[in-house]
Amino acid sequence: MAGTTIQQCAISEWPDTGEINRQLKALTDQPIRPIRRDRMQEFLTYFEQQCARSKALTDEAKKVIPGGVQHNLAFNYPFPLAVDRAEGAYLWDADGNRYIDFLQAGGPTILGSNWAPVREQVLELLRFSAPVTGLFHEYELKLAQLINRFMPAVEMFRMLGSGTEAAMAAIRAARVFTGKKKVIKIGGAYHGWSDPLLYGLHIPGTGRREAAGIPRGATGQTQECFPNDLGQLRRLLMLNRLRGGTAAVIVEPVGPESGTRPVPYDFNQNVRKLCDEFGALLIFDEVVTGFRLGMGGAQGYFGVTPDLTVLGKCITGGYPMAGGVGGRREVMQCFAAGIGGSGERAYVGGTLSANPLSCIAGYYALLEMERTNAPVIAGHAGDRLTKGLQAIIEQRRLPYVAYNQGSIVHLETSGVMLLDLRHPLKVMRELKPRRHMMEEMGAAYMSQGLVTLAGSRMYTSMADTDDVIDDALNRFETVLASVEGA
Ligand SMILES: Cc1ncc(COP(=O)(O)O)c(C=O)c1O
Repeated sequence: MAGTTIQQCAISEWPDTGEINRQLKALTDQPIRPIRRDRMQEFLTYFEQQCARSKALTDEAKKVIPGGVQHNLAFNYPFPLAVDRAEGAYLWDADGNRYIDFLQAGGPTILGSNWAPVREQVLELLRFSAPVTGLFHEYELKLAQLINRFMPAVEMFRMLGSGTEAAMAAIRAARVFTGKKKVIKIGGAYHGWSDPLLYGLHIPGTGRREAAGIPRGATGQTQECFPNDLGQLRRLLMLNRLRGGTAAVIVEPVGPESGTRPVPYDFNQNVRKLCDEFGALLIFDEVVTGFRLGMGGAQGYFGVTPDLTVLGKCITGGYPMAGGVGGRREVMQCFAAGIGGSGERAYVGGTLSANPLSCIAGYYALLEMERTNAPVIAGHAGDRLTKGLQAIIEQRRLPYVAYNQGSIVHLETSGVMLLDLRHPLKVMRELKPRRHMMEEMGAAYMSQGLVTLAGSRMYTSMADTDDVIDDALNRFETVLASVEGA
């Protein structure tokens, strides 16, 4: 049919996770291999010489903004960059330097930054409607219907302000629906910064380590399970059965931290079976994977039907207020129960939630992604980048590990993201030096015109042509050739 594109899978091949996990273990078992000191000094000179305006702006910001930057993914080393412009595969800093942008705002812009056809729709809307009215707008309906077309398990959808809010709402609805309290997450996974889910963050087994300011009661019903440990998950579910039951198991379907700790292909199916056996709801946190793994998301790719789906990022195509929860009709009805007057209500709200601007942006971004086959194109770019990185690593005999789940590309050099509390002494000894090495890698890439996510992850987009990727690989090569012993 004219105008329609055949969607293929955005992941050409699921990585051999056994082999990757073996390589990652080998990386963390050995001492770090950082950049040579003389070369690192040269990379840092770039910032002093080329980024004066960024430095001035962010120094000034420190006086009125705690820490100077407000995004966890922003770089602070040696100092943050101020960004002026973003377009397609590139962004430009306040000093006019151009970078290949593999941060892509943390993942929402699979079409590339600032895709004109979406921008035009947003501008057109703003000519007539205010960005928010507090009343119903047709594009709320259109967006919910469109998401349902791509993800049939999302029978109903409630738009919210962020992925954090959506994950918080999902576990609230699961508790109301099941009447149970416990929620199990996978250690190291990120589901936003709500009180109950700020638990077992970054390093599996660390529980409340990052829960400063959160009362014990708020995380008291949250539990974590080590990544890929289905035996432990089963034991937790069994124990919980004796103590009032498990409301939900929430997973990032490609593995914690967007697949930094990758899961085997059948992991989600096995979690689904366990949830069914123990009467717990399965929540897929698709904030990153939603539409990045294909228009059907991770649930389409793995062929697993979650009870609830948490969405964010892509559902507004990079525009503000990106969050929403969807799923089985009878569970989703919990959000309306108070209004409808029947049953207990899972209370959610938000002055700006589901505003017309976010909804129209999301609606046209998703349509454009379908029309252009953006997830698949971005996935191919991710494959090309990964293969190129693997070749450099092999040629230079580095212990580093590159792997990808389509357009989610990982380049582990310091291994800091792979530590876990099964080896507490190692964490205490090595966390700081490994984290600093990751910062250095990020700064070195940046000095070569490459913006990455925290120096270890790259999101590719439809804008990443073969030429962009090959250019990026040359730049990565410059950095990787500067590593000790390379
Ligand atoms: C898997 C996952 N869930 C939830 C969130 C939180 O989303 P937001 O930053 O929109 O609150 C994120 C953010 O990066 C995420 O990666």
